[in-house]
Amino acid sequence: MANKNSYVGIDIGHMNIRIVQAEKTAAGVRVAKVAETATPVDTIRDGLVRDPEQVGLAIKQAMKDAHIHAHYAVIAASGGAVFVRSVPFPKMNTQMLRESIRFEASRYVPGSIEESYVEGEVVGNLGESQMNVLLAAAPKDVVDGRIATCNAAGLDVKVVEIETFATYRALLESDTSKQASSKTYILVDIGASSTTVSVIESGIYVMHRSMPTAGNTWTDGLKSAFKLESVDAEAGKRALDLSECLTGGSESPPLKVIITQIDELIRELRRSMNYLQTQNHASDSSRSTEIDGMYLCGGGAKLKGLDQYIQAKLGIPVTTIGVFDNPIVTQFGGITGSGVDLAVATGLAMRPMLSAA
Ligand SMILES: Nc1ncnc2c1ncn2[C@@H]1O[C@H](COP(=O)(O)OP(=O)(O)OP(=O)(O)O)[C@@H](O)[C@H]1O
Ligand SMILES: [Mg+2]
Repeated sequence: MANKNSYVGIDIGHMNIRIVQAEKTAAGVRVAKVAETATPVDTIRDGLVRDPEQVGLAIKQAMKDAHIHAHYAVIAASGGAVFVRSVPFPKMNTQMLRESIRFEASRYVPGSIEESYVEGEVVGNLGESQMNVLLAAAPKDVVDGRIATCNAAGLDVKVVEIETFATYRALLESDTSKQASSKTYILVDIGASSTTVSVIESGIYVMHRSMPTAGNTWTDGLKSAFKLESVDAEAGKRALDLSECLTGGSESPPLKVIITQIDELIRELRRSMNYLQTQNHASDSSRSTEIDGMYLCGGGAKLKGLDQYIQAKLGIPVTTIGVFDNPIVTQFGGITGSGVDLAVATGLAMRPMLSAA
């Protein structure tokens, strides 16, 4: 039987669903149970769950198989229409912020403001008359579909947040050795269907974007170049090692195919770095921002040698990390690897611990 306060963090991805149950320890957090299941084919598109019933049943079954009992879920919204950025607002008190947030946000949020959930939090002052507000918005249908999915799995949703906040919490913010409150980091989650890039300066989100190119783009590239079945293309991709491209030897034909696509992703990453520089230069011409590092996570980041390859191209430190690289995150055993693809679910499972602290 589930304890009435028991909850799970659920990462509802386009290819995989991951469920984490965690518990607080003296030193941090322990991942107690993990369940993973393939997302039923074609049930999620650009973050939107098209068949909540079917995805909900998959979650229910995965939890049953992993002996996870819970009443509540903490989930996140993802997809190209999710908006996160710190923006300038006129100075106002909390009550006024609550009342005018949708109006102010409509100047920034690209989608329909009526069809979006919008949240804002003051994260600092900008001179005499303005304040810095972290604005987060997600389409209502994306959020509501995910809530309906959890309900179909027999879970009540306690919190809905944005995926990148969970990733940041699990990998960087809670790891004191990363000193995230005084560093500038780029956090890149490479999933199956999209890659999200967040630029976080001294703990403040300067930029967040989602690009429709990720692990499956590379598999599809191999599939069509060599006329392969999906499983063979996937296995072929996992056997590649991008560090071979850095040693000066000749590249194998599959590496050549994949490198062309990865170079496109790197161009987008460079654009994000340039954006940060121009933003900061515009606000203060003497200010240039050094990027302290880029961290890769998500299943797509498991591609061998990817971090070394991106590092060589961008000239900044690039590291693939998982939740178990964070010294405050421990486990009972049985989970192999560093948890590169567990950041979203673990960060979500950690969320209620903050309010209980
Ligand atoms: N060992 C590996 N080497 C290379 N790629 C891998 C490896 N393991 C998984 N992947 C890739 O990771 C991707 C899936 O990542 P992940 O499970 O994080 O996606 P998701 O969260 O379901 O998708 P999204 O974030 O787009 O919603 C797939 O493209 C898969 O091929
Ligand atoms: Mg994902």
